[in-house]
Amino acid sequence: MTAWDDDTAQRYADKYGGDASIFEVLNAAGIADGADVIDLGCGNGSALAALADRAGRLAGVDPTPRMVEIARERCPGADLRVAPGEATGFGDGDFDVVMMINVIHHLDDISAGLAEANRLLRPGGLIVIGGEVFSTSMVPEGQDYAGALEAAGFGAVERRDLSGAFITTARKEG
Ligand SMILES: C[S@@+](CC[C@H](N)C(=O)[O-])C[C@H]1O[C@@H](n2cnc3c(N)ncnc32)[C@H](O)[C@@H]1O
Repeated sequence: MTAWDDDTAQRYADKYGGDASIFEVLNAAGIADGADVIDLGCGNGSALAALADRAGRLAGVDPTPRMVEIARERCPGADLRVAPGEATGFGDGDFDVVMMINVIHHLDDISAGLAEANRLLRPGGLIVIGGEVFSTSMVPEGQDYAGALEAAGFGAVERRDLSGAFITTARKEG
């Protein structure tokens, strides 16, 4: 899909970086206060900034350096790294929640990204996938990630349509 570089990152941050879908997903996600949260494909940091006053440890990765630069300015307390969602460099079981908002269709390898999300979570940990609803011309594989989540070791998969977005949540089994 989109080739992300510093110019694209700046344009995205200026135009869509505070998109309503991000906050719809966050409001529906049921993230507990004090949870340790990592945002895979954190972009310019909008979701992390919205959680800053109530989360525990906050972290994020994005492979686009300019995105991480902007996110660091907005979320000085978060541990933000330039890395893909498929290989974050964080430790096993470091987090209670993994978020992937408006991002899963950008991954080079969705199965690898979900396996990495599973590795990062503590048992029972929550994965939150969501964002804008795209037509199949944008995401020919669709936006139903239930099968991929189950294959990656998640259970209790639930998808909901929100007013202008979708959310899929699931729990790490074990
Ligand atoms: C549409 S933006 C969404 C950013 C942010 N989550 C939001 O909702 O504003 C997609 C993001 O995916 C990032 N991205 C691209 N390939 C990625 C990968 N393999 N792993 C993680 N993020 C990736 C891009 O750099 C970009 O920041």
